[in-house]
Amino acid sequence: MTTGSKQTYYVTTPIYYVNGNPHVGHAYTTIACDVLARFKTLDGFNVKFLTGTDEHGQKVAKAAEEKGITPQAFTDEVSQVFRDMTDFLEITNDDFIRTTEERHIKSCQALWQRIAERNAPDGKPWIELGTYAGWYAVSDEAYYNEDELRDGPDGGKVGPSGAAVEWVEEESYFFRLSAAEQILLDYYDAHKDFIAPNSRRNEVTSFVKGGLRDLSISRTTFDWGIPVPGNDKHVMYVWIDALTNYITATGFPNEEAADYKAFWPADLHMIGKDIIRFHCVYWPAFLLAAELPLPKRIFAHGWWTVKDEKMSKSLGNVIDPYKLVETYGLDQVRYFLLREITFGADGDFSMDGLLNRANGELANEFGNLSQRVLSMIHKNCDACVPEPNALTPEDDEILNAAASVLDPAREALDRQAFNDAIEAIWIVVRAANAYVDKQAPWKLRKEDPERMVTVLYVLTDVIRMLTLVMQPFTPNGAEAILDQLSIPEDRRDFRAFAPGNAPIPGETLPKPEPVFLRLEEPQVTAE
Ligand code: MSP
Repeated sequence: MTTGSKQTYYVTTPIYYVNGNPHVGHAYTTIACDVLARFKTLDGFNVKFLTGTDEHGQKVAKAAEEKGITPQAFTDEVSQVFRDMTDFLEITNDDFIRTTEERHIKSCQALWQRIAERNAPDGKPWIELGTYAGWYAVSDEAYYNEDELRDGPDGGKVGPSGAAVEWVEEESYFFRLSAAEQILLDYYDAHKDFIAPNSRRNEVTSFVKGGLRDLSISRTTFDWGIPVPGNDKHVMYVWIDALTNYITATGFPNEEAADYKAFWPADLHMIGKDIIRFHCVYWPAFLLAAELPLPKRIFAHGWWTVKDEKMSKSLGNVIDPYKLVETYGLDQVRYFLLREITFGADGDFSMDGLLNRANGELANEFGNLSQRVLSMIHKNCDACVPEPNALTPEDDEILNAAASVLDPAREALDRQAFNDAIEAIWIVVRAANAYVDKQAPWKLRKEDPERMVTVLYVLTDVIRMLTLVMQPFTPNGAEAILDQLSIPEDRRDFRAFAPGNAPIPGETLPKPEPVFLRLEEPQVTAE
């Protein structure tokens, strides 16, 4: 979609439950979206990037009760903790939604109404009143079938995630999900990029093929939720409420709102694999029933584990993102999280892994490249961008490699393949280091000063282009290097890959300071 002449890009994180402190798993999803948002902005898109908090439901009501405060006071407090995390991680979201906000309540009620007014393909309304009798896991806020349960450690039954379930029997509105089965399967079939990675698409497809049961979408035994329009004895099931946040933030139900027109349907919902059923089955079914456009893509990433167990509050193996960033640095943590594993797969979190990536790649290969080149320029070229002489084929080769780095990075990020994007960049980082070693400008200083100047000039331009494309991944270090190259603010987006944006010979450069320092071996332990 376009606004004015600009293409738009709308990316969302899940909205976080307000029942504990943020951990690296939460930071991971948010950072991944932040990289995409920054990349698309630099690439000329008009970007909307949404995150926020999921505040209704039985789990939150219980947590507030245990603390002896009202749910509103409780959610005000904990929502702020997540907002602080986004600030601390320097996330570039342009909205932070809370599901307790008036705009969201209005939007949920409008969506409900719209679904209730429409009929499924069998000619019967999508929503009907009935009685729910079945299992419910409060900590997952999910309904489970008998065949999904196993015996838990305390004698009771637990759901697939290990969450305890309880028997619920109450009047409830149902969304006739069973009537959406074939429409969903046809949709998945016609839109191969809708669910990613492929393994998740297969998982969702076989789940739907296995048969869908109607979904209870309202509760009557507590009141911490959004009232069902026309029957305020019922509050909405927290997932119909939560999922709607993505469209609320565009101004829905006002379909004339500028953001709705520009940004809905979303380009990407980024989620963890544990919430795939809600996003890939329920959410599209609600939107199809409401006759609203579906998001273009849903990507489910894997879990960070610690010694092969999921990082979670209940297991007590949570890594605190604050301590991690304070110890290792924000760029280093961002880089590690997206570089270490194939996005989509699970990954085991280890401090050694982080140190290896930060020291081996960011410090030794990237930071050191700019440091040694800029120091040589400072000492040997009067701290000015040198004036090059005739270029050799080897100079052209490395310059072309750097100038071509954007395409594979862009292509990889459109697949959310963060590590492929970084690898494409790193091929050129390594080639640039090999070029430095081979040209050995420190030897040329005496043997052929004219050639030394050319080599250093070529390198300033190569470093400039590599740094431009690294900005979304390591924004602070990249900014520092671009400052050291005296690149003006208006030449830092990806238009600067076009010819005519190379550093200008004679331009003064500030004294270089090392960026991406080598880290010692501090250890941050799980909470
Ligand atoms: N509130 C729901 C989302 C509603 S979206 C309409 C929720 N919240 S959550 O706070 O529990 O989780 C938010 C995200 O963090 C999920 O995508 C989840 O997969 C992710 N992570 C939680 N623990 C994680 C790891 N250990 N590793 C990676 N991501 C994990 O679910």
